[in-house]
Amino acid sequence: MTGEFRKIIRLKVTESTNSVALEAGEQGAPAGTVVVADEQTGGRGRLNRSWLSPPGMGLYFSLVLRPDLAPGDLAKITLAAGLAVCRAIEAECRIYPEIKWPNDLLVEGRKFGGILTETRSGQDPAAERCPLVVVGVGLNLSPPRGGFPSDLQERATALALHAEQAIDTGALLKECLAAIEAQVHRLESGDFPAILADWQQRDAIRDKVLSWVTPQGNKVTGVSLGPDEHGMLRVRDDQGVVHTVISGDVKLVGKRIEN
Ligand code: BTN
Repeated sequence: MTGEFRKIIRLKVTESTNSVALEAGEQGAPAGTVVVADEQTGGRGRLNRSWLSPPGMGLYFSLVLRPDLAPGDLAKITLAAGLAVCRAIEAECRIYPEIKWPNDLLVEGRKFGGILTETRSGQDPAAERCPLVVVGVGLNLSPPRGGFPSDLQERATALALHAEQAIDTGALLKECLAAIEAQVHRLESGDFPAILADWQQRDAIRDKVLSWVTPQGNKVTGVSLGPDEHGMLRVRDDQGVVHTVISGDVKLVGKRIEN
């Protein structure tokens, strides 16, 4: 869908643009439909975290997709969308963001944005050729009035604190949508290796020491080797064993290891 014919649902306030987009998708909204809100009262992130979405301080939007991908490929959309949003920000704000696997967008080591890719729970993506997928993007444009909450102060930032010019939110949204769709088309044409190569240029944790807790509850510490050909993170522990992180959170525990 091109920008000219895109359906945009603009809301002053909503609980979560992802919820509205999933609902719209279930009602038959076509790929390319966008939900954008000034404020979210229940903005959500990965791992059931909340996404702080005060009015007028950020860009909060969700894009409906119906990608022609195999079910196992859906996880790659998050990486492709992260790359796309970084490029859009670079073009619009002259800032070079990096990505912490899988979905954290960083500038100068602090998080200003995130991607949440969802499909309706209960939906079996294998059952459909082009399953409903919603890519939700949250970007802190300005810090909240009164600053970030104390638990986020050290780790969070906002684009306006790094940009040299005022950010044109409408232009940034347009650029993000076009870039996400371009990367998803690239994915559909089987070009994930090239997407990954571009993504690796922005890998904020490559060669850094990380820890993460396996689904079995074991804590693993090791060096990040970057995402594999499926988009899953590989971590090499002290014994040289390479682990694949399928989900969950990875925490940085050390500084970059110089070769
Ligand atoms: C993360 O960092 O874990 C992802 C955050 C994604 C937040 C965006 S804001 C727009 C969309 N609506 C939501 O409820 N979440 C996403």
